[in-house]
Amino acid sequence: MAQLAIKGGTPYRTKEFPGWTVITPADAQGLQQVYDQSEWGIDGPKNKEFQEKFAAYSGAKHCLTVANGTVSIELILRGLGIGRGDEVIVPPYTFIASISSLIYAGVTPVFADIDKETFQMSAQSAEQCITPRTKAIMPVYVGGCPADLDAFEALCKQYGLYLIGDAAQAVGSTFNGRGIASYAVATSISCQNSKNLTCGEGGIILTDNDELYERIDRMLHGGRDDDGNYTDLGLYNGMSEFQASILLTQLEHLPAQIEKRMKNAAYLDEQLAKLPCVYPMKQDERITCNSYHLYLLGIREEQLQGVSRDDFLAAVQAEGVPLVAGYVPAYSLDCLASDYTKKCIGGQINLTPHTPNAETVGYHEGAWIYHAVLLGEQSDMDDIVGAITKVYQNLDELK
Ligand SMILES: Cc1ncc(COP(=O)(O)O)c(C=O)c1O
Repeated sequence: MAQLAIKGGTPYRTKEFPGWTVITPADAQGLQQVYDQSEWGIDGPKNKEFQEKFAAYSGAKHCLTVANGTVSIELILRGLGIGRGDEVIVPPYTFIASISSLIYAGVTPVFADIDKETFQMSAQSAEQCITPRTKAIMPVYVGGCPADLDAFEALCKQYGLYLIGDAAQAVGSTFNGRGIASYAVATSISCQNSKNLTCGEGGIILTDNDELYERIDRMLHGGRDDDGNYTDLGLYNGMSEFQASILLTQLEHLPAQIEKRMKNAAYLDEQLAKLPCVYPMKQDERITCNSYHLYLLGIREEQLQGVSRDDFLAAVQAEGVPLVAGYVPAYSLDCLASDYTKKCIGGQINLTPHTPNAETVGYHEGAWIYHAVLLGEQSDMDDIVGAITKVYQNLDELK
């Protein structure tokens, strides 16, 4: 008789894991206040309050609240004067928005490889991608894990490049005890519904740079300066008071949620390290806070006796554990080869870069667990380990 649920056996777990979002009555009270104050736009009191609180929380000088974590990157690029003819180095192991934001700003993305032990962009590989057209390097902190910011900071300094952080998934993460935003000229965060700090749709820009802050702020106000002159091209992409209100009340829970995720992730690391078929991410002491939007896990396909990662993951999912395959390399996505993309950037992207680790992780080794699951109890983590172990011990059934 089959043991594995995917072959008709009994699932290891049938109970649901915690879901997302976590709401409290304070969210509704805040929304009612906005309704009553009848000032709902970008310059309302909730936006101001959130910007101040969040800048302080992140250790950044300035915070801007915007429509989402895609236009936030576009605004940063436009604010820095990076556009058509310029290149920005990015990892291919990311969500498409890291790339489409560049393209909409006319910028050519150049793909550097990732580190297999962390799934984050490799500074060494990024250095090899620098050309006279390079203007910035933009690591993406996939899953909330900071990239090697010491190395990226030094690299950008050495070559006179901007360091931009795509921290869409890394709200609250720190490196060497410092907020990740302090390493970059500007950092972008997403508050889209799945993210660890959410208001449904929304984005945040953090920067210590006064000039950049003022320029982006003008852009969000139609491009006008204090005297009413149109000094910049505007992009009306601000955040409403309703969204800012939700961010304020949700922010109250963020530190405790991060702490819980980190505790559960450390436990999973310890338990999963005992299994030959998987490898937890390398722990770097300089990562003082990982917000764990995703728990990243490597699958050792060579230990699966001919079973593919994807079949292995399907079997784990059938056991009731949502361990899923992550990104495929972004350069394989059709939209990057489209005529419209070529028109935007005035050229074409190198869609066959030398990024062997991104290939291996994207197609054979990468796996994730979504952050809400990490808000469960230790017994929930035990079920994750138990289900993976069960599938590994019954690989014969998958062959
Ligand atoms: C790495 C990364 N960058 C950018 C974005 C874009 O954020 P948004 O959906 O808020 O536009 C996301 C969203 O999932 C993301 O994961």
